[in-house]
Amino acid sequence: MTHAAFPALRLRRSRRYAWSRAMFAENVLTPANLIWPLFIAWGDVEEPIASLPGVSRWPIAMIGDRAREAKAAGIPCLALFPNTPRELRSDDGREALNPDNLMCRAIKAIKDAVPDIGVLTDVALDPYTSHGHDGLVDAQGRVLNDPTSAVLVEQALVQAHAGSDIIAPSDMMDGRVGAIRNALEAAGHVDVQIMAYAAKYASAFYGPFRDAVDTRGLLKGDKKGYQMSPSNSEEALREVALDLAEGADSVMVKPGLPYLDIVRLVKDRFGVPVFAYQVSGEYAMIEAAAAVGAGDRDALVLETLMSFKRAGASGVLTYHALHAARLMGG
Ligand code: PBG
Repeated sequence: MTHAAFPALRLRRSRRYAWSRAMFAENVLTPANLIWPLFIAWGDVEEPIASLPGVSRWPIAMIGDRAREAKAAGIPCLALFPNTPRELRSDDGREALNPDNLMCRAIKAIKDAVPDIGVLTDVALDPYTSHGHDGLVDAQGRVLNDPTSAVLVEQALVQAHAGSDIIAPSDMMDGRVGAIRNALEAAGHVDVQIMAYAAKYASAFYGPFRDAVDTRGLLKGDKKGYQMSPSNSEEALREVALDLAEGADSVMVKPGLPYLDIVRLVKDRFGVPVFAYQVSGEYAMIEAAAAVGAGDRDALVLETLMSFKRAGASGVLTYHALHAARLMGG
């Protein structure tokens, strides 16, 4: 048995030149794949977030400029998270239903500045409750499912009325997608989409986000009673199946990088638009790595974002969105 004199095929041939690498690319990343999460400040000044270096809370007066920057860079959609003053937080999170709350004012400011940029709004009570949970709690601190769902429906309607394009429930209550869809239809908001946080894990990567919306110090206990266990993937598929059956237009997997396997499983099983949320702790990890010289920041950002496309995601929510879009020439 003699060995062939030459390799049967040299895969390196296609990698030799930049033009060829571009031609053989199986996936492409564009600014249109990015959703930019923005934090809204109550006051009049920009508020940098220490655990999220490079990310700030923006006052209403400056949020329109962020929308213009996003639009100019080719980013199609913004995701909004308000930092509600503590004095407006309550056990029942009723500020979430105020049609003039920070979220609703931000939606309007963005639509005034850039009418044709998409606005995705978070539906959950954690930025409005005094206990930091995503829903209503009983005397034992357990989050009540159906009573919470009823409030989330009202919250979604308030946001849709203010101009939200995509309602994104991040609370993980059972049955809330169907309830919200039904209420949106009945109220005539037939074109308002729902992006369900379908597979959202009880993760240690949410720390900086909880600083940004000031829930870290308030949160009693943990969220394991409603968010998923990192050990489970079959359950993620059941969550996705339910949210789709209830009328979700797209589904989300969250966090991102540690759950790329879930993104791929969902895409293969359902063939629907899947989005990944590269969460605050992931952003902070990349920034920390770059700060100590462990890797080139721009390269780390683009490589991780490409991994979501390769895993089958339609797009990524990322705090690096503006920077990444500009790197791509947007
Ligand atoms: C809560 C919510 C969280 C995030 C988005 N919505 C945190 C949590 O569940 O406590 C995290 C996003 C991030 O870490 O970037 N409704």
